[in-house]
Amino acid sequence: MSEDKTRERWAARPGEEVSEVDNAHRAPSGVIDVPSRLLMGPGPANAHPRVLAAQSLPLLGHMHQPFFKIMDDISEGLRYTLQTKSKYTLMVSGTGHAGMEAAIANLVEPGDKVVVGNAGIWGERVGILSRRYQADVVEIKVPAGQTFSYETLKATLLEHKPAVLFLCQGESSTGTHQSLAGVGELCRQTGTLLLVDVVCSLAGVPIFTDAWGIDCVYGGSQKCLSGPPGASPFFLSERAMEKLQKRKTPPATYNLDMNLIGDYWGWFGKRSYHHTGPVSTFYAMREALALVAEEGLESMWARHQAMHKRLWDGLRGMGLKPFVEKDEDRLITVNTIKVPEGVDWAALVKHAMDTYSLEIAGGLGPTVGKVWRVGIMGYNAKPQNVELVLTAFKDGLQRQGKELPLPEEAGAGAAQPQPAAAPA
Ligand SMILES: Cc1ncc(COP(=O)(O)O)c(C=O)c1O
Repeated sequence: MSEDKTRERWAARPGEEVSEVDNAHRAPSGVIDVPSRLLMGPGPANAHPRVLAAQSLPLLGHMHQPFFKIMDDISEGLRYTLQTKSKYTLMVSGTGHAGMEAAIANLVEPGDKVVVGNAGIWGERVGILSRRYQADVVEIKVPAGQTFSYETLKATLLEHKPAVLFLCQGESSTGTHQSLAGVGELCRQTGTLLLVDVVCSLAGVPIFTDAWGIDCVYGGSQKCLSGPPGASPFFLSERAMEKLQKRKTPPATYNLDMNLIGDYWGWFGKRSYHHTGPVSTFYAMREALALVAEEGLESMWARHQAMHKRLWDGLRGMGLKPFVEKDEDRLITVNTIKVPEGVDWAALVKHAMDTYSLEIAGGLGPTVGKVWRVGIMGYNAKPQNVELVLTAFKDGLQRQGKELPLPEEAGAGAAQPQPAAAPA
């Protein structure tokens, strides 16, 4: 076709100018090539093969009956995983941050007081997010590697009587596990809604949302649930739903308005289009939750616990030390290991990747340069993976001229510079 004819053919709208197609950026092409990696950092963890297979099934329409059945299966699977009878469970279409934003945007009205427990980067972020939704934020903080005591939480709640209290159950930047014992009861006394981040902990450690008086959680699909990133388990209690329905103003986000999204998920007895559900991601989550139900929560918790012990038996044998001092504060799903004096943490991380295609992460936020982070989550929580991590540590330390076990003082750890980008 001559150039003039081409122009004539595509100039469908009067006045639209058709120029020649610029081929300079005509990429990518060919079949995608992805290296195989063992993801033993703080997430994502490797997805279970059954989950990946589910993700590649043919698409359904997002408003088709068989797809609604899959959404119902997810809601029910979440009720089991979260140990709740609430009908208000669903997957937010988006990563953990979408769940986080949905929680704040819906639970908080402008001017509401929000107490944010900042034990690392996630508390800090919830504080930032809450301010954007015009909350009156009261931040309480603990040094990295510590958690909030019941007494501190009680005193803070009684002093401020906030609308919302935020705590992160599994703080992946520091490797701490926040106890929730008695906190729900305190929140009821002060008329506070209890919001908990379970992104790194859900299905790896116990949570009983109803029995513990939790009002809202958001999670992640890519950690202990062995799924791909892109869906955030979400739950509201009856109390939280009441607050939502009595709001004076609608949430400042249409995208994450839980009344509208709940309507898509059938919370109110019918189904209305809000957005196009990420069909393949929801297949994956349906399968991930089926795996949880088949294995059983207690077996999953026990498996994570056993792999955490196995990891630390090996690490302690090399003279390495946990960053979190108290046993009861230690998160078993994301483990923080002190970088010993004179060790180049980044070189060890690089060696693990170059030699074993194995991801071990450095610190994040307050722990940058001070720790390595090793995730033991979901499909990856198995002996052969833990053994490979131990081999990579042994090897990595020996390559830096360290004799193992390390001398007592070397394991003490020291802050080092070089904050490189680390996975979340
Ligand atoms: C505890 C915690 N909360 C929230 C997030 C944010 O989740 P996402 O990166 O899926 O948005 C992460 C991510 O690693 C996390 O570990």
